[in-house]
Amino acid sequence: MELNKIIDKFIEIYGGDKSDLRVFASPGRVNLIGEHTDYNGGFVFPAALTMKTTIVARKRKDNKIVLRATDLPDVVEADINNLDNYRDLKWGNYQIGIAYEMQNRGFDIVGCDLLYDDTVPHGGGLSSSAAIEVSTAVMFKTFSDEKNGIKEEIDMVEMAKIGQMAEHNYVGVKCGIMDQFASAMGKKDHAIFLDCKTLNYEYAPLAFEGKKLILTNTNKKHSLGASKYNERRQECEKGLEMLKKGLPDKNFLGEISIEEFEANKHLITDEIVLKRVTHVIYECDRVLKSVKALKDGDMVSFGKYMNQSHDSLKDLYEVTGDELDTLAYEARKIDGVLGSRMTGAGFGGCTVSIVDENAVDTFIAEVGKNYTEKTGIVPSFYVTEIGDGGREIK
Ligand code: GLA
Repeated sequence: MELNKIIDKFIEIYGGDKSDLRVFASPGRVNLIGEHTDYNGGFVFPAALTMKTTIVARKRKDNKIVLRATDLPDVVEADINNLDNYRDLKWGNYQIGIAYEMQNRGFDIVGCDLLYDDTVPHGGGLSSSAAIEVSTAVMFKTFSDEKNGIKEEIDMVEMAKIGQMAEHNYVGVKCGIMDQFASAMGKKDHAIFLDCKTLNYEYAPLAFEGKKLILTNTNKKHSLGASKYNERRQECEKGLEMLKKGLPDKNFLGEISIEEFEANKHLITDEIVLKRVTHVIYECDRVLKSVKALKDGDMVSFGKYMNQSHDSLKDLYEVTGDELDTLAYEARKIDGVLGSRMTGAGFGGCTVSIVDENAVDTFIAEVGKNYTEKTGIVPSFYVTEIGDGGREIK
Protein backbone atom coordinates (compact mmCIF):
# COMPACT_ATOMS: atom_id res chain seq x y z
CA MET A 1 0.00 0.00 0.00
CA GLU A 2 1.17 3.57 -0.65
CA LEU A 3 2.30 5.43 2.43
CA ASN A 4 -0.48 8.06 2.19
CA LYS A 5 -3.08 5.32 2.16
CA ILE A 6 -1.54 3.56 5.17
CA ILE A 7 -1.60 6.87 7.04
CA ASP A 8 -5.25 7.50 6.07
CA LYS A 9 -6.13 4.02 7.24
CA PHE A 10 -4.35 4.63 10.54
CA ILE A 11 -6.43 7.78 11.15
CA GLU A 12 -9.59 5.92 10.18
CA ILE A 13 -8.84 3.17 12.74
CA TYR A 14 -7.25 5.06 15.61
CA GLY A 15 -8.64 8.60 15.10
CA GLY A 16 -6.71 11.82 15.87
CA ASP A 17 -4.67 13.63 13.24
CA LYS A 18 -1.44 13.11 11.37
CA SER A 19 0.71 15.52 13.38
CA ASP A 20 2.04 12.94 15.86
CA LEU A 21 2.45 9.99 13.52
CA ARG A 22 5.81 8.33 12.89
CA VAL A 23 6.76 5.97 10.09
CA PHE A 24 9.33 3.16 10.20
CA ALA A 25 10.23 0.65 7.50
CA SER A 26 12.53 -2.29 6.87
CA PRO A 27 12.85 -4.56 3.82
CA GLY A 28 12.78 -8.26 2.99
CA ARG A 29 15.82 -9.79 1.33
CA VAL A 30 16.94 -12.04 -1.45
CA ASN A 31 19.98 -14.21 -0.87
CA LEU A 32 22.05 -14.50 -4.04
CA ILE A 33 24.19 -17.37 -2.77
CA GLY A 34 25.35 -18.93 0.54
CA GLU A 35 22.37 -20.89 1.84
CA HIS A 36 22.22 -22.57 5.25
CA THR A 37 25.73 -21.31 5.92
CA ASP A 38 24.92 -18.40 8.27
CA TYR A 39 24.23 -20.47 11.41
CA ASN A 40 27.44 -22.37 10.62
CA GLY A 41 29.59 -19.24 10.85
CA GLY A 42 29.98 -19.23 7.06
CA PHE A 43 29.59 -16.68 4.26
CA VAL A 44 26.38 -15.31 2.73
CA PHE A 45 25.65 -12.83 -0.06
CA PRO A 46 22.17 -11.32 0.40
CA ALA A 47 20.66 -8.01 -0.72
CA ALA A 48 17.74 -6.00 0.67
CA LEU A 49 14.61 -5.74 -1.49
CA THR A 50 12.36 -2.75 -2.01
CA MET A 51 9.49 -4.94 -0.77
CA LYS A 52 9.16 -4.06 2.89
CA THR A 53 7.24 -3.74 6.14
CA THR A 54 6.03 -0.22 6.89
CA ILE A 55 4.80 0.72 10.36
CA VAL A 56 2.75 3.82 11.06
CA ALA A 57 3.03 4.47 14.80
CA ARG A 58 1.78 6.80 17.51
CA LYS A 59 2.89 6.74 21.14
CA ARG A 60 0.22 6.11 23.79
CA LYS A 61 0.12 7.40 27.35
CA ASP A 62 -0.57 3.97 28.90
CA ASN A 63 1.16 0.57 28.89
CA LYS A 64 -0.55 -0.95 25.90
CA ILE A 65 0.84 -1.97 22.54
CA VAL A 66 -1.99 -2.14 20.00
CA LEU A 67 -1.24 -3.93 16.73
CA ARG A 68 -3.17 -4.01 13.49
CA ALA A 69 -2.30 -4.77 9.87
CA THR A 70 -3.66 -3.31 6.64
CA ASP A 71 -4.51 -6.77 5.29
CA LEU A 72 -5.75 -8.65 8.37
CA PRO A 73 -8.80 -8.41 10.63
CA ASP A 74 -6.70 -9.25 13.74
CA VAL A 75 -6.32 -6.77 16.59
CA VAL A 76 -3.72 -7.49 19.26
CA GLU A 77 -3.57 -5.59 22.53
CA ALA A 78 -0.52 -6.43 24.59
CA ASP A 79 0.29 -5.28 28.12
CA ILE A 80 3.87 -4.01 28.42
CA ASN A 81 4.15 -5.55 31.88
CA ASN A 82 3.25 -9.04 30.65
CA LEU A 83 5.01 -9.37 27.33
CA ASP A 84 5.83 -13.03 27.92
CA ASN A 85 2.16 -13.95 27.45
CA TYR A 86 1.70 -13.54 23.71
CA ARG A 87 3.79 -16.35 22.26
CA ASP A 88 0.83 -18.21 20.82
CA LEU A 89 -0.62 -15.37 18.76
CA LYS A 90 -1.50 -16.32 15.19
CA TRP A 91 -0.31 -12.88 14.12
CA GLY A 92 1.66 -10.39 16.21
CA ASN A 93 4.08 -12.73 17.99
CA TYR A 94 7.07 -11.41 16.03
CA GLN A 95 6.25 -7.84 17.06
CA ILE A 96 5.64 -8.66 20.71
CA GLY A 97 8.70 -10.94 20.63
CA ILE A 98 10.82 -7.91 19.72
CA ALA A 99 9.32 -5.83 22.55
CA TYR A 100 9.94 -8.72 24.97
CA GLU A 101 13.53 -9.26 23.81
CA MET A 102 14.28 -5.52 24.04
CA GLN A 103 12.72 -5.17 27.48
CA ASN A 104 14.93 -8.00 28.70
CA ARG A 105 17.91 -6.09 27.34
CA GLY A 106 16.98 -2.99 29.34
CA PHE A 107 15.17 -0.90 26.74
CA ASP A 108 12.19 1.13 27.93
CA ILE A 109 9.24 -0.17 25.91
CA VAL A 110 6.73 2.63 25.23
CA GLY A 111 3.00 1.97 24.67
CA CYS A 112 1.88 2.69 21.12
CA ASP A 113 -0.81 2.27 18.46
CA LEU A 114 0.58 0.59 15.36
CA LEU A 115 -0.53 -0.21 11.85
CA TYR A 116 1.60 -2.66 9.84
CA ASP A 117 1.69 -2.88 6.06
CA ASP A 118 3.72 -5.66 4.38
CA THR A 119 4.65 -5.83 0.73
CA VAL A 120 7.01 -8.79 1.25
CA PRO A 121 4.94 -11.88 0.43
CA HIS A 122 4.34 -13.99 3.56
CA GLY A 123 5.84 -17.47 3.50
CA GLY A 124 7.68 -16.63 0.28
CA GLY A 125 11.16 -17.16 1.68
CA LEU A 126 11.95 -13.45 1.27
CA SER A 127 12.14 -12.76 5.01
CA SER A 128 8.87 -11.03 5.68
CA SER A 129 9.59 -11.92 9.31
CA ALA A 130 12.96 -10.13 9.39
CA ALA A 131 11.29 -7.08 7.81
CA ILE A 132 8.76 -7.02 10.67
CA GLU A 133 11.39 -7.66 13.33
CA VAL A 134 13.87 -5.00 12.24
CA SER A 135 11.27 -2.28 11.58
CA THR A 136 9.72 -3.01 14.99
CA ALA A 137 13.09 -2.93 16.73
CA VAL A 138 14.00 0.43 15.16
CA MET A 139 10.66 1.85 16.30
CA PHE A 140 10.91 0.65 19.92
CA LYS A 141 14.55 1.76 20.10
CA THR A 142 13.63 5.24 18.83
CA PHE A 143 10.78 5.59 21.35
CA SER A 144 12.89 4.23 24.21
CA ASP A 145 15.68 6.71 23.45
CA GLU A 146 13.22 9.61 23.22
CA LYS A 147 11.67 8.75 26.58
CA ASN A 148 15.09 8.64 28.18
CA GLY A 149 16.57 11.68 26.46
CA ILE A 150 19.18 9.55 24.65
CA LYS A 151 20.45 11.04 21.41
CA GLU A 152 22.54 8.51 19.54
CA GLU A 153 22.58 6.93 16.13
CA ILE A 154 20.85 3.56 16.06
CA ASP A 155 23.29 0.66 15.87
CA MET A 156 21.65 -1.33 13.08
CA VAL A 157 23.74 -4.45 13.68
CA GLU A 158 22.32 -4.48 17.21
CA MET A 159 18.80 -4.22 15.74
CA ALA A 160 19.57 -7.24 13.55
CA LYS A 161 20.79 -9.24 16.56
CA ILE A 162 17.67 -8.33 18.52
CA GLY A 163 15.55 -9.57 15.61
CA GLN A 164 17.41 -12.87 15.46
CA MET A 165 17.20 -13.41 19.22
CA ALA A 166 13.48 -12.62 19.33
CA GLU A 167 13.03 -15.33 16.73
CA HIS A 168 15.09 -17.79 18.81
CA ASN A 169 13.66 -16.95 22.21
CA TYR A 170 10.06 -16.01 21.42
CA VAL A 171 9.10 -17.64 18.13
CA GLY A 172 11.29 -20.74 18.54
CA VAL A 173 13.15 -20.76 15.22
CA LYS A 174 16.93 -21.04 15.62
CA CYS A 175 17.64 -18.90 12.56
CA GLY A 176 21.00 -17.45 11.59
CA ILE A 177 21.75 -13.72 11.33
CA MET A 178 21.54 -13.31 7.54
CA ASP A 179 17.93 -12.15 7.13
CA GLN A 180 17.92 -9.58 9.91
CA PHE A 181 21.38 -8.35 8.92
CA ALA A 182 20.31 -7.82 5.30
CA SER A 183 17.10 -6.11 6.37
CA ALA A 184 18.92 -3.80 8.80
CA MET A 185 22.06 -3.08 6.76
CA GLY A 186 20.84 -3.23 3.15
CA LYS A 187 22.07 -0.65 0.66
CA LYS A 188 20.41 0.36 -2.60
CA ASP A 189 21.83 -1.51 -5.61
CA HIS A 190 24.33 -3.43 -3.46
CA ALA A 191 24.59 -6.94 -2.10
CA ILE A 192 26.24 -7.61 1.26
CA PHE A 193 29.13 -10.03 1.47
CA LEU A 194 28.90 -11.09 5.11
CA ASP A 195 31.09 -13.33 7.22
CA CYS A 196 28.58 -14.64 9.75
CA LYS A 197 31.30 -15.69 12.17
CA THR A 198 32.73 -12.20 12.70
CA LEU A 199 29.93 -10.07 11.18
CA ASN A 200 32.57 -8.37 9.05
CA TYR A 201 30.88 -7.25 5.84
CA GLU A 202 31.49 -5.53 2.56
CA TYR A 203 29.03 -3.98 0.10
CA ALA A 204 29.32 -5.20 -3.48
CA PRO A 205 27.70 -3.14 -6.26
CA LEU A 206 25.14 -5.15 -8.21
CA ALA A 207 25.82 -3.70 -11.62
CA PHE A 208 24.28 -6.45 -13.74
CA GLU A 209 24.77 -4.83 -17.18
CA GLY A 210 21.79 -5.83 -19.32
CA LYS A 211 20.59 -8.45 -16.78
CA LYS A 212 17.64 -8.62 -14.43
CA LEU A 213 17.23 -10.49 -11.17
CA ILE A 214 13.89 -12.26 -11.27
CA LEU A 215 12.24 -13.76 -8.21
CA THR A 216 9.72 -16.50 -8.87
CA ASN A 217 7.41 -17.52 -6.08
CA THR A 218 6.36 -21.20 -6.01
CA ASN A 219 3.30 -19.99 -4.10
CA LYS A 220 3.70 -23.08 -2.01
CA LYS A 221 3.61 -21.92 1.59
CA HIS A 222 6.50 -22.94 3.78
CA SER A 223 6.36 -22.88 7.54
CA LEU A 224 9.84 -22.41 8.94
CA GLY A 225 9.01 -23.09 12.57
CA ALA A 226 7.25 -26.38 12.00
CA SER A 227 9.65 -27.40 9.26
CA LYS A 228 12.97 -29.12 9.15
CA TYR A 229 15.00 -25.98 9.74
CA ASN A 230 16.00 -26.66 13.35
CA GLU A 231 16.70 -30.28 12.43
CA ARG A 232 19.20 -29.22 9.76
CA ARG A 233 20.91 -27.01 12.25
CA GLN A 234 21.29 -29.91 14.69
CA GLU A 235 22.69 -32.14 11.96
CA CYS A 236 25.37 -29.52 11.28
CA GLU A 237 26.21 -29.34 14.98
CA LYS A 238 26.63 -33.11 15.06
CA GLY A 239 28.91 -32.92 12.02
CA LEU A 240 31.08 -30.29 13.67
CA GLU A 241 31.40 -32.41 16.83
CA MET A 242 32.62 -35.36 14.76
CA LEU A 243 35.06 -33.26 12.71
CA LYS A 244 36.49 -31.72 15.88
CA LYS A 245 38.20 -35.03 16.65
CA GLY A 246 40.56 -34.21 13.80
CA LEU A 247 40.19 -30.43 13.84
CA PRO A 248 39.99 -29.52 17.55
CA ASP A 249 40.48 -25.77 17.00
CA LYS A 250 37.45 -25.28 14.79
CA ASN A 251 34.31 -23.85 16.30
CA PHE A 252 32.21 -23.48 13.13
CA LEU A 253 31.83 -25.48 9.94
CA GLY A 254 32.35 -22.16 8.19
CA GLU A 255 35.96 -22.07 9.40
CA ILE A 256 36.87 -25.36 7.76
CA SER A 257 38.50 -25.26 4.33
CA ILE A 258 37.72 -27.77 1.60
CA GLU A 259 41.17 -29.35 2.09
CA GLU A 260 40.72 -29.71 5.86
CA PHE A 261 37.28 -31.18 5.33
CA GLU A 262 38.38 -33.68 2.70
CA ALA A 263 41.22 -34.86 4.96
CA ASN A 264 38.87 -35.36 7.93
CA LYS A 265 35.50 -36.28 6.50
CA HIS A 266 36.02 -39.98 7.35
CA LEU A 267 35.34 -38.88 10.96
CA ILE A 268 31.69 -38.27 10.06
CA THR A 269 30.09 -41.66 10.52
CA ASP A 270 26.50 -40.67 9.76
CA GLU A 271 25.66 -40.58 6.07
CA ILE A 272 23.00 -37.85 6.35
CA VAL A 273 25.24 -35.65 8.48
CA LEU A 274 28.03 -36.07 5.93
CA LYS A 275 25.73 -34.82 3.15
CA ARG A 276 24.69 -31.76 5.16
CA VAL A 277 28.26 -30.85 6.06
CA THR A 278 29.51 -31.36 2.50
CA HIS A 279 26.91 -28.84 1.34
CA VAL A 280 27.97 -26.25 3.93
CA ILE A 281 31.72 -26.55 3.23
CA TYR A 282 31.37 -26.27 -0.56
CA GLU A 283 28.64 -23.61 -0.37
CA CYS A 284 30.92 -21.31 1.63
CA ASP A 285 33.57 -21.75 -1.03
CA ARG A 286 31.01 -20.93 -3.74
CA VAL A 287 30.19 -17.65 -2.01
CA LEU A 288 33.85 -16.61 -2.13
CA LYS A 289 34.09 -17.58 -5.80
CA SER A 290 30.82 -15.83 -6.68
CA VAL A 291 31.83 -12.57 -5.03
CA LYS A 292 35.08 -12.66 -6.98
CA ALA A 293 33.25 -13.46 -10.22
CA LEU A 294 30.95 -10.49 -9.65
CA LYS A 295 33.93 -8.19 -9.03
CA ASP A 296 35.48 -9.47 -12.27
CA GLY A 297 32.22 -8.87 -14.16
CA ASP A 298 32.08 -12.61 -14.92
CA MET A 299 28.34 -13.16 -14.76
CA VAL A 300 28.54 -16.49 -16.55
CA SER A 301 30.55 -17.99 -13.68
CA PHE A 302 28.28 -16.31 -11.16
CA GLY A 303 25.28 -18.03 -12.75
CA LYS A 304 27.09 -21.36 -12.78
CA TYR A 305 27.75 -21.14 -9.02
CA MET A 306 24.08 -20.31 -8.44
CA ASN A 307 23.08 -23.48 -10.29
CA GLN A 308 25.58 -25.55 -8.30
CA SER A 309 24.22 -24.08 -5.09
CA HIS A 310 20.67 -25.14 -5.96
CA ASP A 311 21.77 -28.63 -6.92
CA SER A 312 23.62 -29.04 -3.65
CA LEU A 313 20.60 -27.80 -1.67
CA LYS A 314 18.53 -30.38 -3.54
CA ASP A 315 20.83 -33.41 -3.34
CA LEU A 316 22.87 -32.86 -0.18
CA TYR A 317 20.89 -30.52 2.06
CA GLU A 318 17.51 -31.77 0.82
CA VAL A 319 15.54 -28.56 1.33
CA THR A 320 14.20 -27.85 -2.16
CA GLY A 321 11.18 -30.01 -3.08
CA ASP A 322 9.39 -30.49 -6.42
CA GLU A 323 8.12 -26.94 -6.78
CA LEU A 324 11.48 -25.21 -6.32
CA ASP A 325 13.24 -27.80 -8.47
CA THR A 326 10.71 -27.39 -11.26
CA LEU A 327 11.13 -23.60 -11.23
CA ALA A 328 14.93 -23.79 -11.22
CA TYR A 329 15.13 -26.40 -13.99
CA GLU A 330 12.48 -24.79 -16.18
CA ALA A 331 14.33 -21.48 -15.82
CA ARG A 332 17.61 -23.00 -16.96
CA LYS A 333 16.01 -24.19 -20.21
CA ILE A 334 15.41 -20.59 -21.32
CA ASP A 335 18.04 -18.91 -23.50
CA GLY A 336 19.47 -15.92 -21.67
CA VAL A 337 19.20 -17.41 -18.17
CA LEU A 338 22.62 -17.39 -16.53
CA GLY A 339 21.63 -19.15 -13.32
CA SER A 340 18.67 -20.05 -11.16
CA ARG A 341 18.43 -21.25 -7.58
CA MET A 342 16.19 -21.37 -4.55
CA THR A 343 16.68 -18.53 -2.07
CA GLY A 344 16.10 -18.60 1.71
CA ALA A 345 15.36 -21.61 3.86
CA GLY A 346 13.73 -23.70 1.14
CA PHE A 347 10.80 -26.14 1.40
CA GLY A 348 8.81 -23.70 -0.76
CA GLY A 349 9.25 -19.97 -1.23
CA CYS A 350 11.10 -18.40 -4.17
CA THR A 351 13.83 -18.95 -6.71
CA VAL A 352 16.14 -16.18 -7.88
CA SER A 353 17.33 -16.17 -11.49
CA ILE A 354 19.69 -13.97 -13.47
CA VAL A 355 18.06 -13.31 -16.81
CA ASP A 356 19.09 -11.32 -19.89
CA GLU A 357 16.94 -8.19 -20.14
CA ASN A 358 15.53 -9.21 -23.51
CA ALA A 359 14.67 -12.74 -22.32
CA VAL A 360 12.53 -11.58 -19.37
CA ASP A 361 9.17 -11.80 -21.17
CA THR A 362 9.92 -15.27 -22.54
CA PHE A 363 11.14 -16.33 -19.11
CA ILE A 364 7.92 -15.27 -17.40
CA ALA A 365 5.70 -16.81 -20.09
CA GLU A 366 7.54 -20.12 -20.46
CA VAL A 367 8.51 -20.80 -16.85
CA GLY A 368 5.00 -19.79 -15.77
CA LYS A 369 3.31 -22.11 -18.26
CA ASN A 370 5.55 -25.11 -17.66
CA TYR A 371 5.49 -24.76 -13.88
CA THR A 372 1.69 -24.64 -13.81
CA GLU A 373 1.47 -27.64 -16.13
CA LYS A 374 3.74 -29.67 -13.85
CA THR A 375 2.53 -28.59 -10.42
CA GLY A 376 -0.97 -27.19 -10.91
CA ILE A 377 0.09 -23.96 -9.16
CA VAL A 378 0.30 -20.49 -10.71
CA PRO A 379 3.62 -18.86 -9.74
CA SER A 380 4.25 -15.13 -9.19
CA PHE A 381 7.13 -13.19 -10.72
CA TYR A 382 8.88 -10.10 -9.35
CA VAL A 383 11.54 -8.16 -11.23
CA THR A 384 13.79 -7.39 -8.29
CA GLU A 385 14.92 -3.99 -7.17
CA ILE A 386 17.57 -3.75 -4.47
CA GLY A 387 16.78 -1.17 -1.80
CA ASP A 388 18.00 0.33 1.47
CA GLY A 389 17.88 -1.17 4.96
CA GLY A 390 15.66 -0.36 7.98
CA ARG A 391 15.09 3.22 9.13
CA GLU A 392 12.64 5.85 10.26
CA ILE A 393 11.03 7.58 7.28
CA LYS A 394 10.92 11.32 7.94
C1 GLA B 1 16.26 -18.67 6.73
C2 GLA B 1 16.96 -18.22 8.01
C3 GLA B 1 18.37 -17.68 7.70
C4 GLA B 1 19.16 -18.66 6.85
C5 GLA B 1 18.33 -19.15 5.66
C6 GLA B 1 19.02 -20.24 4.88
O1 GLA B 1 16.01 -17.58 5.90
O2 GLA B 1 16.23 -17.22 8.67
O3 GLA B 1 19.05 -17.39 8.90
O4 GLA B 1 19.61 -19.73 7.62
O5 GLA B 1 17.05 -19.62 6.05
O6 GLA B 1 20.19 -19.79 4.29
